[in-house]
This record gives sequence, C-alpha cells and structure tokens, in this order.
Amino acid sequence: MLEKIKKFFSKEIKEIGDLKNLEQLRVKYLGRKSELTQILRSLKNFSIEKRRKIGPQAQKLKKEIEIILTKKLKELKAKNSKLKVDIDITRPGEKIKLGHIHPLTKIEEEIRQIFLSMNFSVVEGPEVENEHYNFDALNIPPNHPARDMWDTFWLKTQTNTDYTQIDTEGLYKSVSSQYKSMLLRTHTSPVQIRYMETHNPPFQIIVPGRVFRYEAIDASHEINFYQLEGLIVGENVSLANFKSVIEEFFRKLFGNKIEFRFRPSYFPFVEPGLEVDIKLGKDWLEIMGAGMVHRKVFDAVRYNPNEVRGIAFGVGIDRLAMIKYNIPDIRLFYNGDLRFIKQF
Ligand code: PHE
Repeated sequence: MLEKIKKFFSKEIKEIGDLKNLEQLRVKYLGRKSELTQILRSLKNFSIEKRRKIGPQAQKLKKEIEIILTKKLKELKAKNSKLKVDIDITRPGEKIKLGHIHPLTKIEEEIRQIFLSMNFSVVEGPEVENEHYNFDALNIPPNHPARDMWDTFWLKTQTNTDYTQIDTEGLYKSVSSQYKSMLLRTHTSPVQIRYMETHNPPFQIIVPGRVFRYEAIDASHEINFYQLEGLIVGENVSLANFKSVIEEFFRKLFGNKIEFRFRPSYFPFVEPGLEVDIKLGKDWLEIMGAGMVHRKVFDAVRYNPNEVRGIAFGVGIDRLAMIKYNIPDIRLFYNGDLRFIKQF
C-alpha cells in the first residue's frame, strides 16, 4: 500500500509545472481525504503489531512527501519571481528625459520679442559668406588694415580661377569665375548689405545669427558665437533714436537697474562710430559696436547718401546671456554639459 503511494507520488510530482497543480497534488497525497491520511487515522483500529510496523513507515512517507513538496514549491516560486521582475507593470517607469532650451536660444527668443514689440523686423542671412558682403561692401577693401579686426576662417573654393564652360551655341568657352573668396562670416553686418540691396527705406531690422572668428579661445572668447545686428534706415534717423532704442532694449532685457555709456570708437562701416559699455558692479563692460551708417556703405547698395541716414549696431548675444544669467565663462555655452544646460 505505502509502496504504491510512494511510487505514484514520485511519478506525478515530476509532471508538476505550476503552483496550482502542486497544491492539487498536495491535497491528493496529504489532504484529509488522501489515502495516506486515511491510513494514519485508521492506525488505532489496527493490532499493536500491525500498528508498530505500519505506523513509522507511514510517518516516514508523510515526511518524505512533505520534503519533496516543499522543495518543488521553492523551485516554482523562484521561477515565478524571476518571470515577474521582467513584466511587473506596477513598477514605476524610467523617467523619459525631455529636450531643453539652450540659454542662448532662450535669450535670443527674448531679444526677438523685445525688438518685435518696438516694430523691428527679424531678418537672417547666410553663415557662409563671400568677401564682398563680409568686407568690401562694408568699406573694408582688401589690404585695409581694419580687416585685422576680424580674424577670419577662409574657405577653400575655386576663387578667381578660369574654367571652361559650354556656351549657348554649344561651343567651349573660357570664363572667369564670378565667385569672390568665401569665408565664415565674422559678424552679422553683411546682412545689412544683403537687406539694403533688396529693400527700400524706411525700415528697422534686427539680424540674430552665428558668427565665426579665428581666435584663441578663453573665458570670454570663442571661435564661434552669436551676434545681433540692428539696422535702422530712414530720412531723419539719428544717434538720439539709437539711444532711445537701446535704452528700451536694456530696460526690457535686464530691468531698470542697468547703466550704460557711449564711447567713441572706429568701425569702417560707420561714421561716427561708437561703443556701448554696460556697468556691472564697479566695472564697465564693452558689449556693443554702433554708429551712423557710412556713406560708402550706402554707395555700395545704391542708396543716395544725401537722402537717407542710418544707424547700425552689433551686440554679442553670448555677452548679454553671460550678464543676464551671471555666467562666468563663454565656453560653458558650447561644451554640451547637461548639468549646465538644465539650469535654464
Ligand atoms: N560688426 C561689428 C563687430 O562685429 C559690430 C558693429 C556692428 C559695429 C554695427 C558698428 C555697427 O565688431
């Protein structure tokens, strides 16, 4: 009898693959109605002899079955918990990282809004420029010493070389390249020329954009940075207009507290030229070049210098951001460190 129970149990336990079936098996072999329990219960009806013989054997089998069931139970539970780790839908998910507005983008947007509110239009121009727009038309001819003010990244192009082309009659013809030397713009001023060539005064525009300089990098200089050009052209434009425009601009960008001053300076494309300094603590910080548009610039775009006047200014957007957000080093804008970016 006991031998038979043991044999069937051993066979059945091998086929158990989940907890529900295991419990059914336990009930079948150790439950109240199981054969083994029946045997143990009916021991008292047996003779002493029989009781002594079967009693311990039945107890031993019960223990054995219990041990095997426990072992199986542990195995199945371990297997189940492993499965659960993979599919536990109640666990909090990993946070998805969202993109972040760069401080330079943020301040540029703010600057655009300020000038839009003063009725300026926003204009953009190419980052790869030619010599004509970046220098010549701005009254900086080749070999002009002022070219040294802008250390330039020149690009390798088919500059001024002759090449052969098939003309309209199908004949080979040698032509001289119309391309001027190409470069990465060193300032946003070339967009002054591009805009005036295609528009008539009066107008007032700003030109935010990326510029490039072949310079040594330090805490306040980068080889690429951002500028904001401003250009106002009309009949009676004067430096007084300029002063009121930038007064409003500074007030809106920094609040009332900012103090600034004009200082005479030189740029080939303005006359008179000046620089604007902002007061920070005890120090004056130079942040902007400006002046009345030079007659030669008007000549270059075929405006009549006797009929129109203009003011132009150029300001470093990075500098403005450094002042506004209290950032000590311009390189922080460009090294891609998320710990920095996330603060804005
Ligand atoms: N383009 C000049 C610069 O990059 C700044 C400037 C703009 C000065 C307009 C005068 C007028 O330094």
